[in-house]
Amino acid sequence: MEKKQLLYEGKAKRVYATDDPGLLVVEYKDDATAFNGLKHDRIAGKGILNNKISAFFFALLAEYGCESHFVKLLSEREMLVKKLEMIPAEVVVRNLVAGSLAKRFGLKEGKPLARPVVELYYKNDALGDPMINEYHLYALGMATPAQVEAFTGEALRINQVLSGFLRERGLLLVDLKLEFGVHNGKVLLGDEISPDTCRFWDAKTGEKLDKDRFRQDLGGVEEAYREIYRRLTGETYDI
Ligand code: ADP
Ligand code: TMP
Ligand code: ASP
Repeated sequence: MEKKQLLYEGKAKRVYATDDPGLLVVEYKDDATAFNGLKHDRIAGKGILNNKISAFFFALLAEYGCESHFVKLLSEREMLVKKLEMIPAEVVVRNLVAGSLAKRFGLKEGKPLARPVVELYYKNDALGDPMINEYHLYALGMATPAQVEAFTGEALRINQVLSGFLRERGLLLVDLKLEFGVHNGKVLLGDEISPDTCRFWDAKTGEKLDKDRFRQDLGGVEEAYREIYRRLTGETYDI
């Protein structure tokens, strides 16, 4: 497999073509952004940790029969993935009240939800990723009802698998954001699963161990990402 031209540079990753039209290389950057790119900084080693953490989660999910785009790790910052036709939706699953849900309902963070909540956002930075529902996706030709049913079921299953796994490691999965795409007619999980795209709280202390440390200027961002890696793998990672 040969890495070819840069196809896309996003806020957190670069995507490259390969000599195989069905495969891409994803490279994780150290850039951190929030509020649709308005806040920007660089966090040393974040890309390496997110690459490794995402690879770990994709491999774990595969053991539970949740298929993703992940093929293999290529280097500290790069993974090989299946090329997907991305569905332009951010699929958020929530277990506890936090972030924009806390704001929308005027609730305090940390309230457990009686059942997981699935939300959809239209992936469009210029519009600020507005909240949508499945009817928008059907009506605008962005996804079929069968595809929405497939990724909603998969998102809930992923949430269940990861919540249980993390609970055993003293972590609460507060919420997570997933992206899906189509490969050979099948809906597959794509993008990343990392502290950039999930909320992880220490189950005992409630300490935030994710990108909220950056969003809310809490400090210790790199340390939090390293702690997630340590809880998952039992290994420490010194950059
Ligand atoms: P953003 O576009 O939000 O700034 P990133 O910096 O994470 O995000 O860029 C990665 C881009 O690659 C995202 O737009 C994401 O939807 C897309 N992507 C993720 N996985 C795949 C895949 N397997 N095939 C094609 N595109 C993908
Ligand atoms: P929210 O509470 O800000 O809506 O975020 C819900 C989850 O989605 C949280 O785990 C962070 C993640 N997320 C992203 O991955 N990208 C985004 O652009 C936003 C706004 C949230
Ligand atoms: N990912 C979004 C951004 O980069 C927002 C966020 O994660 O808070 O601006």
